[in-house]
Amino acid sequence: MPFSTMTRRTVLAGAAGTALAAATGAGAAGQGKAFPKGFLWGVATAGHQIEGNETNSDYWVLENVKPTVFAERSGDACDSYHRYEEDIALLARLGFNTYRFSIQWSRIEPDRGSFSNAELDYYKRVIECCHRHGVKPAVTFFHGTAPIWFAAAGGWTNPDAPELFAGFCSTAAKALAEGMAFAFTINEPQVAKAVRFIPGAEAYADKQREAMAAMHAAAAKSVGSDRFSTMDDPDYDRMEPQLLAAHRQACVAIKAERGDLPTGVCLAIMDFEPGSKDSPYEDLRKNAYSAWLEAGAAAGDFIGVQTYHLIRIPGKGTPFPPLPPTPFAEPGDAIAGLQQPEALRNAVEYVYAQTKKPILVTENGIEADNDARRVWYIDGALAGLHEAIAKGVPVLGYTHWSLLDNFEWERGYKPKFGLIAVDRTTFKRTPKPSATHLGRIARANRI
Ligand code: BGC
Repeated sequence: MPFSTMTRRTVLAGAAGTALAAATGAGAAGQGKAFPKGFLWGVATAGHQIEGNETNSDYWVLENVKPTVFAERSGDACDSYHRYEEDIALLARLGFNTYRFSIQWSRIEPDRGSFSNAELDYYKRVIECCHRHGVKPAVTFFHGTAPIWFAAAGGWTNPDAPELFAGFCSTAAKALAEGMAFAFTINEPQVAKAVRFIPGAEAYADKQREAMAAMHAAAAKSVGSDRFSTMDDPDYDRMEPQLLAAHRQACVAIKAERGDLPTGVCLAIMDFEPGSKDSPYEDLRKNAYSAWLEAGAAAGDFIGVQTYHLIRIPGKGTPFPPLPPTPFAEPGDAIAGLQQPEALRNAVEYVYAQTKKPILVTENGIEADNDARRVWYIDGALAGLHEAIAKGVPVLGYTHWSLLDNFEWERGYKPKFGLIAVDRTTFKRTPKPSATHLGRIARANRI
C-alpha cells in the first residue's frame, strides 16, 4: 500500500478539498483546573529531525538521491547533536519536567552487529544531562530512521527485521536503560496504514506511489544494493508483520535489561469522527487501529498517543453542517479546519476504551507560522485532556511536539511545529510565546 509514513500532512494536503473540509469547533480553554499529582509535562523531538548529519541513516540516502521527494536535506538540522545541553537546560528553565527524544540506531550500530561504545556514551551523557536538570528522559528507540545496512537488507520487509531491531534494543538498553524514565519501542509504526483511511487519500497515494518507488530504487543503486526499504516504503503491508513482531521483541529485550522500566509503543491516532448520521466511522476506526491497539496493549505498560487532526468520515446521508473555521488560520491553509484541539480528548478516550491501558500523550501539536494559533491549540487540547482525565482516563502525561522548529521529513524546514524557533545559520534558539505559555502551565500543573 503506497503511503509514505512521514507524510500525514502531505496526504491531508493531497486529499484536501474533499469531505475533509468539514470539522468541528475547538474546545475552549479551561481555567484553574489541576492535573493529577506527578503529571508529566514534556516536549518531544526525534534524532534525525534535530541532531543533524545522521549520515549513516537510510533517510540521509533518500534525501540525497535523485529523484527524491524531499524538499531539502536534513543537513545540520538544529545541531542538537552538539547543543543538547543547551536544549535540555532551556526546556527545564521553561518549566517542563520530561524530555522525549530518540537514540539513533544508525549511530549506535553503524555496521550490522558492530556497536559503537562512543555513541552509547554520547547518549548516556544526554540522559545524565536530563537528570542534572531535573528532567525525566523519555527515550524512543526507533523514530523513523534506520542504519543504511538495515535498509539495504530489506528494512522492515526483511523477515529478520524484528530480531535485528531487538538486538539493537538489547545493547542500547544494557547501556542506557538505567537512566531512562520511559522507553518507547517504535514511533508511529502504523501511520502509513492510518492515513489510508483519510477520505480522498487513495487517489493521492496513487500519484505518490511512483515517486516513492523511484526514490527507493535510486537509493538502492547509490548504496550498491538490490534492495532499499525504509519506513517510507510504498508497500506498508509487507512491513506490518515484522513491525508488530519488532515491537513485541523490543519490549522483551528492554525489559530483560530493566524489568521495571515503563515501556510502550507510540501510535499515530487521527481522530476519525462521523461526518453524517450514517457515517461508517466506527468500522473505519477498527480497521485503522485495532491491530496495533491490541499489539500495544498485549506488550507494553501504556499506550503512547500521538494526535494532530480530527477527520470527519462522511456517510451516504446528508453531511453534517460544516463547523466554524478555526481561529488564526493562515490564508489558504486547507488543513486548518482539521487542526481541532478536541481531537486529543477524543483520541485519548478512544484508545483507553479499547485497551484499558494508561495513556501517555507522546505527541500533540500544530503546524503554525502564527504562534498565537499554537497557544490557542494548546489551550483547547489541554482542556479536552483534562476532561478525559476527569472522566477517569488514566493519563500519565502530555508531551508537546515539538521543542524546536525542526526537519519535518519530506517537507523540510518549512513547517513550524516548534515552541522554540531555530536560526538555520547560527542555530540560535528563540523561545516563542507558546513556549512560555505551556511552560507556565507545566510548572503550575494546572490550566
Ligand atoms: C512524527 C514526527 C513529525 C510530527 C509532525 C509525527 O508523525 O512522529 O516525526 O515531525 O508527526 O509532522
